[in-house]
Amino acid sequence: YDNMSKISIIGAGAIGATTAFALLQKGIAREIVINDINQEKALGEVLDLMHGSSLCRPCNVTLGTLEDTKDSDIIIITAGSPQKPGETRLDLVDKNYAIFKSFIPRLAELSPNSILLVVSNPVDVLSYMTYKLSGFPKERVIGSGTVLDTARLRSLLGKYFEIDGRTVDGFVMGEHGDSEFVPWSSLRIGTIPVKSFSEQYSIEWDKETEKVIAEDVKNCAYEVINRKGATAFAVAVALVRIVEALLRDEKTILTVSTLLNDYCGVSDTYLSVPTVVGKNGVEKVLSVDFSDEEKEKFTSSARIMREYIDRINGK
Ligand code: 2OP
Repeated sequence: YDNMSKISIIGAGAIGATTAFALLQKGIAREIVINDINQEKALGEVLDLMHGSSLCRPCNVTLGTLEDTKDSDIIIITAGSPQKPGETRLDLVDKNYAIFKSFIPRLAELSPNSILLVVSNPVDVLSYMTYKLSGFPKERVIGSGTVLDTARLRSLLGKYFEIDGRTVDGFVMGEHGDSEFVPWSSLRIGTIPVKSFSEQYSIEWDKETEKVIAEDVKNCAYEVINRKGATAFAVAVALVRIVEALLRDEKTILTVSTLLNDYCGVSDTYLSVPTVVGKNGVEKVLSVDFSDEEKEKFTSSARIMREYIDRINGK
């Protein structure tokens, strides 16, 4: 496939820099522009990446101003404050929205045909705001959403059953944050419902196990942040997965955060649901057969998002 793409990364923190490294390893872009208000830190990352680039597929890694992002194919937005130990993602909303307001309109103007991939937290609220600030069609403003949480779920289930996590067919849905949930009723492992799967392995599985695993998935980021200050590797591979799906026009199914329109009664809110991702961005939103309990969890996640969006809009 062609690797003529230009990818810009806004924010050279742990996630931005690790994502640039992961993209370089994949040989997926021809040009990576890294932008950060802390130019020295960003230049350090750029030099470090550039020094190794002759061992990878040709890719020009540069430090860039906002203007240098012009005509990007994909812009990965990681700028803003990250969570500190004890903070929730939603605690970051005001300061990160203020930062987004300062550069999203210009970014969108410079790369009118790009896909904006929002990563900064709270990612669902900021994706919605980016959609509004950019004026882009909703298909081209994507939040990384629960692609990461879904990867965590599959990894933890893989570990629990000692099987390849990629055979887990199931998702984390809703907010990328504390109100996210796992629709267990539709989850399968190699087409087999998880209860039946566990019986074949003689491994315990009940409602309590579901609760514990869903909690563990939700707390993954806290576990990492409390120990090393920030999450980076898992986020970066999730982002590379999304970028790959976009550039290769994969039409694969990923739980990115997208604008919902009458989804389970939820409208005008960004949340993660299974979507088909291809070169046009989010090409289709898929509905899931929820149990009543799952439906309630989904709408309650949406209510929280709506509160934050309304607060920003001064309603
Ligand atoms: C994560 O889940 C902090 O949202 C980031 O790793």
